Amino acid sequence: MGFKEQIDISRLPKHIAVIMDGNGRWAKNQGKFRSFGHESGVVSLKDVVEGCTDIGVKYLTVYAFSTENWNRPIEEVNLLMELLISTINAEIGTLNKNNVRLNAIGDIASLPQKCIDDLKNAMDETAGNDSCTLTLALSYSSKWEIVEAARKLATLVKEGKMDVNEIDETAFSSQLTTTGIPDPELMIRTSGEHRISNYLLWQIAYGELYFTEKMWPDFMKEDLFEAIVDYQKRERRFGKISEQLN
Ligand code: IPE
Ligand code: IPE
Ligand code: MG
Repeated sequence: MGFKEQIDISRLPKHIAVIMDGNGRWAKNQGKFRSFGHESGVVSLKDVVEGCTDIGVKYLTVYAFSTENWNRPIEEVNLLMELLISTINAEIGTLNKNNVRLNAIGDIASLPQKCIDDLKNAMDETAGNDSCTLTLALSYSSKWEIVEAARKLATLVKEGKMDVNEIDETAFSSQLTTTGIPDPELMIRTSGEHRISNYLLWQIAYGELYFTEKMWPDFMKEDLFEAIVDYQKRERRFGKISEQLN
């Protein structure tokens, strides 16, 4: 029996977050350029998005480019930006066919203008789709996002639009870039690294973490289904004891 058949559709995670890592090593292991790894990573992403729509996962948020990734060699940064532009433009049709809405989080204004424009176009073109929301985290880091949220709340207080006592977890969440999207129940990282690399720190406060040795270009929808099966075997206690859960 495949992993897909083992999934309990009534207990799917609504939101899955993915750290798509290992493109460079995957390519290097085959004596190829890192760019080949990134291009192959796009194939995996397409397959995983399809996996989400196959079974009904509502939100998929993928780490595509971190704030820290700006520190890579300029040639690689440029290549990633070009790959981003070509991919979003090439995929609008498929996104629409599969009823997937494209969304983006991060410091989008820091991206090259062509990226900003094409991203906006692709988001507008897919805005009416509602089977799955695919969010690309671009020039994203969690600490950046949290500081931005603090700044927005401080501004609201300063302008007299909010009272200090109204700042609670709900008010704070609503200033994050993921506002309106439920917190991910499952966070997947490929490539064997056991770290979060500044991704969705607030949102994964109670998320289940899943690590796999597979490099991202080798991760396909069947691997996603395997991660979901693993997730469904876990007991999520949220601080309670086992006997309190039904
Ligand atoms: C993830 O793969 C993609 C991005 C960070 C853009 P990497 O490029 O980090 O690949 P490795 O981790 O060096 O193998
Ligand atoms: C995290 O991967 C960022 C993305 C997948 C976009 P990195 O390869 O940049 O993270 P580190 O350097 O291993 O922490
Ligand atoms: Mg990496």
